[in-house]
Amino acid sequence: SPLVARTLPALQRSLETLRKRHASVALVPTMGALHDGHISLVRLAKRRANKVVVSIFVNPTQFAPHEDYGSYPRTWKTDAAKLATEGVDLIWNPDAALMYPEGFATSIHLEGPATAGLEDRFRPHFFGGVAIVVAKLLAQVRPDVAIFGEKDYQQLKVVTQMTRDLNLGPRIVGAPIMRERDGLAMSSRNLYLSPEQRKAAPALHRSMKQVVRLLRQGEDPAATLKAGAKLITDAGFKLDYLEARHAETLAPLSQIGREPGRLLAAATIGTTRLIDNMKI
Ligand code: PAJ
Repeated sequence: SPLVARTLPALQRSLETLRKRHASVALVPTMGALHDGHISLVRLAKRRANKVVVSIFVNPTQFAPHEDYGSYPRTWKTDAAKLATEGVDLIWNPDAALMYPEGFATSIHLEGPATAGLEDRFRPHFFGGVAIVVAKLLAQVRPDVAIFGEKDYQQLKVVTQMTRDLNLGPRIVGAPIMRERDGLAMSSRNLYLSPEQRKAAPALHRSMKQVVRLLRQGEDPAATLKAGAKLITDAGFKLDYLEARHAETLAPLSQIGREPGRLLAAATIGTTRLIDNMKI
């Protein structure tokens, strides 16, 4: 089973063991409550490096006070068992006092299209929290590669931008979205859905697929996005956004078909907020 480190000295000792004979190291940052989406990242990590480190840390700084930090699922035993089955080499499992000791005073703020709008508009604290914790994890583990899911597409772009801007070192690799059979993107927060909400939830993905189909056929973007928004709200969601953006820069898409596009959405069903995205 994997080594487990919960202090910085233990982490450094474990990394020294892994790094013997110049082995390359991949890091997969997670907040635990691992599902097959996370496991797909671990498998990609194994193909990209000799040794795989998975961090499990529910990061308080990316949750707003009204959000689910306290109730976020914490499932250490099953997480550790899954990672053992996958042959992960090391689990980095710091606590909040280690990551944010008394007197912690640094923040990271990103400008530019990667953080303009979308999640940032509805969760203004979010990318600051993600940036600081990912920067710390990369500084602590110093991996050659770090894997992030396209499920959190804007997060992937923000982390890529920050890593480049600050010369943090690792190559940032994106991994495709894993979905349930009915199309719902896998997410730790799907555990919050009631049976009825779970039945309604795939409408988000289904509506987005319909929008992509129409956009590819050359339908008017504004009208198509408006119709897509109606499909999503009619299915019982409260929609935060449904937007077509440039797939690389996340700048607003001026012309569908001319540039690589990505359709991104966030919507709440009951009290559970779901996000999804797909290639246009
Ligand atoms: P968490 O939500 O646990 O997700 C960890 C990683 O798994 C992220 O890179 C996310 O994009 C990826 N992931 C989640 N669901 C996925 C799916 N269905 N298919 C593919 N990949 C999926 O994202 C975070 O944690 C945190 O913000 C973190 C980066 C760890 C910083 O705290």
